Amino acid sequence: MRRPFIAGNWKMNSTRAEGIALVQGIASGLPADCSVEVAVCPPAIYLDAIVAAAGDGKIGVGAQNIYFEPSGAFTGEVSAAMLKDVGCQYVILGHSERRHVFGESSSLINKKVHAALAAGLVPIVCVGELLEERETNKTADVVAEQFYGSLAGVSAEQMETVVLAYEPVWAIGTGKVATPEQAEQVHADLRKVIAARYNSAVADKVRIQYGGSVKPDNATELLSQPNIDGALVGGASLKADSFLGIIAGA
Ligand code: G3H
Repeated sequence: MRRPFIAGNWKMNSTRAEGIALVQGIASGLPADCSVEVAVCPPAIYLDAIVAAAGDGKIGVGAQNIYFEPSGAFTGEVSAAMLKDVGCQYVILGHSERRHVFGESSSLINKKVHAALAAGLVPIVCVGELLEERETNKTADVVAEQFYGSLAGVSAEQMETVVLAYEPVWAIGTGKVATPEQAEQVHADLRKVIAARYNSAVADKVRIQYGGSVKPDNATELLSQPNIDGALVGGASLKADSFLGIIAGA
């Protein structure tokens, strides 16, 4: 019912030439009848080139961040309209590196979510707990609080288009993947939170990706869980064969 969605977050990696070769490698390895929605999220400076190289629309392109204002004196920032202008369909918002390295709050992320939706972009909104929060049994509360804060004021109709990504911070780039049971528990809890905030029809439609050390050898088991609808992949999205391996497991 929910179409699986695998997105690669390249973070601050690759050169222009490497990015073009990577997206072309992914495109040539995708089956013609691929049932999985696939996207890559390169550094902003390469978006234009990657949109052009992605070709016939089998692979969507997203950015890793935006600023919420439409234009103006915001040195160094990129707007949602600019992403649309170069052919992006998605934007990752509230990634844990934005929250914890750059100090972004859920209320700032919420402004970005509204800007993305107004521009017609699909926001991929990330939530996830720190290790100490998991160890003190705060995971469900932290994730629910990030959800409510980041999605405040989003209508039910808009919410159906939003993609959520549950990324436990302790699993990102560490090789310590959440077990399928741990991930499924949080995804199921999150779906209950969506149902409580909206209704069960909306909750049934929203796709929730898992992110954190997803690799070809753990993807199938994670993605076979009933509430895991895809993956937001970091390190393993930087090589065509490993990213294609994850897509094949979905
Ligand atoms: O956005 C992607 C996540 O941060 C996961 O990164 O697959 O390198 O652990 P990772």
